[in-house]
Amino acid sequence: MFENLPQLPADPILGLMDAFRNDSNANKIDLGVGVYKNEQGETPVLESVKLAERDILEQEKTKVYIGPAGAVEFGTAMQNLLLGADHPALRDNRVTIIQTPGGCGALRVAAELVKKGNPDATIWVSDPTWGNHIPLLGDTGLQIKTYPYYDAVNHQIRFDAMTDALQQAQQGDLILLHGCCHNPSGADLSQEQWQTLTNMANEKGFTPFIDIAYQGFGAGIEEDAYGVRLMAEQLPELLIASSCSKNFGIYRERVGAVLMVAKNAEQARACSSQLARIVRGIYSMPPSHGAAVVAHILENDVLRQHWLGELNAMRERIHNLRGQLLDQLNAKGAGSDFSFITRQSGMFSFLDISPAQVQRLREEFSIYMTSDSRISVAGINNNNLDYLSSAIVGVL
Ligand SMILES: Cc1ncc(COP(=O)(O)O)c(C=O)c1O
Repeated sequence: MFENLPQLPADPILGLMDAFRNDSNANKIDLGVGVYKNEQGETPVLESVKLAERDILEQEKTKVYIGPAGAVEFGTAMQNLLLGADHPALRDNRVTIIQTPGGCGALRVAAELVKKGNPDATIWVSDPTWGNHIPLLGDTGLQIKTYPYYDAVNHQIRFDAMTDALQQAQQGDLILLHGCCHNPSGADLSQEQWQTLTNMANEKGFTPFIDIAYQGFGAGIEEDAYGVRLMAEQLPELLIASSCSKNFGIYRERVGAVLMVAKNAEQARACSSQLARIVRGIYSMPPSHGAAVVAHILENDVLRQHWLGELNAMRERIHNLRGQLLDQLNAKGAGSDFSFITRQSGMFSFLDISPAQVQRLREEFSIYMTSDSRISVAGINNNNLDYLSSAIVGVL
């Protein structure tokens, strides 16, 4: 049986990480991997997480299963974080939430729910989108189509082209949107654009499916939930896949959630039972530890303030790096306008240089990024900024 299975090509990002590890240049810079790094180039455990883990270690009394939907406290804390505690959809009991293994688990479980609800649904994703969206959603068997999103010449969203394409979406289709900090472009929808898409969803009967993996990395923890909250208030149905990997820095603990907003309380209960059934058929139950940490931090005022301070510091660092990179590129005579880097938000931006220029950065300067020129901004620091900006200007 297994002799029929061919060897698959290596994952491009993992290949890039390998090449970086094996590069002996002392000045090498990794702008490929999508995790937050501090000024020392490390991804440390947040202090608030360490404190919560200490409490959990002392207080935890059992390791029995937590059930397919995960911990109730986690669900309550996450729905408040995403929607705000007094959101009308919560008051109307139109919301159901389950804990998942990471944002990836959330995306897949949500897509399985879509498949049960409408096996003929198409999921529309932005062009470009995060590479893993395609296997996570498409491996369910649902059809995937793309809508235009990023204009690499003008470095902004192609909103007219996007809405034109979405005119073709059918009732019952899903439109995948990035809640904030679009990966890979860093170009986010404005409040007006969120409203336009909400109106379109109401008129055309498609359902937005919001992936929010960077809440707190854009404008702030509340501000970044703008689109999620607007759509949950104004639309009959909405799917949200949330990840705690980045904003709590607990990547390997695998913490995420599917939140769905239904037309009414009865449908929300029905979907809750469907989600539990889907989970039973895939991994049965989510892991406990990471979600317990998140719930403890969000429920405890002191820990919550501590965490918000750490999250704000991560956001501010990335924001400042964007400004510093622009200043350095200008000071070194970049010639072209890179100011878009400071208008974009979150961990990523495209440099909007060619694959050949990306290759030169790698081969001549040991600077690593994906061939589409996406950079993970947190990989920049005071030690490598000068070298990096000179190298970029050098290949322009
Ligand atoms: C856009 C986007 N969605 C979802 C995820 C899922 O993250 P995880 O499964 O690690 O929580 C990521 C992680 O990189 C992401 O960039």
